[in-house]
Amino acid sequence: MKIVNGKDGLAKEAANYIVEHLKKRDASVLGLATGSTPVGTYKELIAMHKEGKVSFANVHTFNLDEYVGLKNTDTNSYHYYMKELFFSHIDVPEDQFHLPKGTAEDIEAECHTYEKLIRQTGGIDLQLLGIGTNGHIGFNEPGTSFQSRTHVVTLDESTREANARFFDAIEDVPTHAITMGIESILEAKDILLLVAGKEKGEALSELLYGDVREDIPATALRKHPSVTVIVDTEAYQAAKIPGEENLYGG
Ligand code: PGA
Repeated sequence: MKIVNGKDGLAKEAANYIVEHLKKRDASVLGLATGSTPVGTYKELIAMHKEGKVSFANVHTFNLDEYVGLKNTDTNSYHYYMKELFFSHIDVPEDQFHLPKGTAEDIEAECHTYEKLIRQTGGIDLQLLGIGTNGHIGFNEPGTSFQSRTHVVTLDESTREANARFFDAIEDVPTHAITMGIESILEAKDILLLVAGKEKGEALSELLYGDVREDIPATALRKHPSVTVIVDTEAYQAAKIPGEENLYGG
C-alpha cells in the first residue's frame, strides 16, 4: 500500500504505475474505472502522453461498468466520461476501447458478449479500480456473489445518492447498470485500487482489516495475489484500525 498526499499525489502515483506497467510490455489490456477518483489519473496520463512518455496505440481497454438506458452521447454515460476525460486525448484506436453497451436491446446477451470479448482479447492485464463508500467495486453492491461474472445490477440507493451530484435530480439517476462481476474483476493479472477522501475511510478499514465477505465486495480483493492500493492521507487517517478506538478512551 502506498500513502500519498492529496489528489495530485494520488494522480501522479497512479499514472506512473500505469506507465511503468505499459513500458514493460509491447501491448496491454487495461481494465478502467470511472467515478471522481481516477479523473486526475487520466489527466496525468494525458499529460504524460503529450510529453511523449507513453503511447496507448497497442493498448486495449475494458471499462468496469455502464448505466443501463443512457446513450453513449448522454453526458452522464460512462462512454461519454471516458471519451471526454481520456480517450479523445490519447492515441488509443477507436476499435480498441470498450465499455458495456447500456442501450443494448438484449442486456443479458450484452453481458455475455462483453465477457467473451475480454477473453478473446487475452484477459485484463491491469485493472484500475475505485471503491464505493459502501465497499462496492465496479457496480457490485454489498451482497453480490464473489462468483459473479458480468451482469445487470439494481443500484443501491446509497450509490444512486452518491452519483446524483452529476444529474439534475436523483430521479434521473438510472436504477440499473451492467458491471463486470467480482470473479471477472479478480481474473485481472494485476489490480490497482485508488482510495481517496475521508468518506472512504470505513470502506478502506473493511478492506484492510475486515473479514472477507460478500457484504463488503472490496474484501474479495484480499483473495487476489497482486493488488496495489494507493490511498490518500485523508482516507488513510479516516480508516479505523480495529481496537484503536480504545486508545482514545472509547
Ligand atoms: P468515486 O467512486 O471515485 O466517485 O468516489 C468510486 C466508486 O464508486 O467505485
